[in-house]
Amino acid sequence: MDRTDPCWLFGYGSLIFRPAIPFVERRPARVRAWTRRFWQWSTDHRGEPWRPGRVVTLAPAPDDCCWGIAYRLAETDAAAILADLDMRERGGYVRMEIELELHAPAGQAPDTLVASSRVVAGLTYQGWPGNRNYAGPAPIDEIASQVIQATGPSGANADYVRDLDAALNALAVEDAHVAALVAGLGG
Ligand code: BEZ
Repeated sequence: MDRTDPCWLFGYGSLIFRPAIPFVERRPARVRAWTRRFWQWSTDHRGEPWRPGRVVTLAPAPDDCCWGIAYRLAETDAAAILADLDMRERGGYVRMEIELELHAPAGQAPDTLVASSRVVAGLTYQGWPGNRNYAGPAPIDEIASQVIQATGPSGANADYVRDLDAALNALAVEDAHVAALVAGLGG
């Protein structure tokens, strides 16, 4: 682990397709032993309190990994960016330190790049079981039905799912959970 890197922020949800933060550099990256799941309610972005949407969190998965995008923040900006994100993502998420495997820049399939990876300390946002917006597991058709019905200030919940799926496809990342949900939405 290279602890001399300033600040790498790992995005595995909307931060992939709508980072809306200044950054110095971005890289495809993965975290081992975690997987992406639509197990967090959104009452302030992709849903409303009376009809919450579903957004992603990380669930422990010893044999799996989660691909996303790592953003390197300028040392001078990092504290302010993280403070803004703490506000933006205040719906039950907390910051978590992780080991990030950085890969070569986007445009190349991640699987061909594993040999050239390097591991750094990073930060991400995590919705732990028991947080006030934790939705937890449910059958994929039930999740799809909740997603279809939800809209919030940031847009339709279904658009969030499809935008995430498109961004993962552009990274050549296969995520069976996301793909199953897109199929449940009717493609
Ligand atoms: C993300 O896009 O990676 C993300 C942002 C906030 C909370 C959880 C995930």
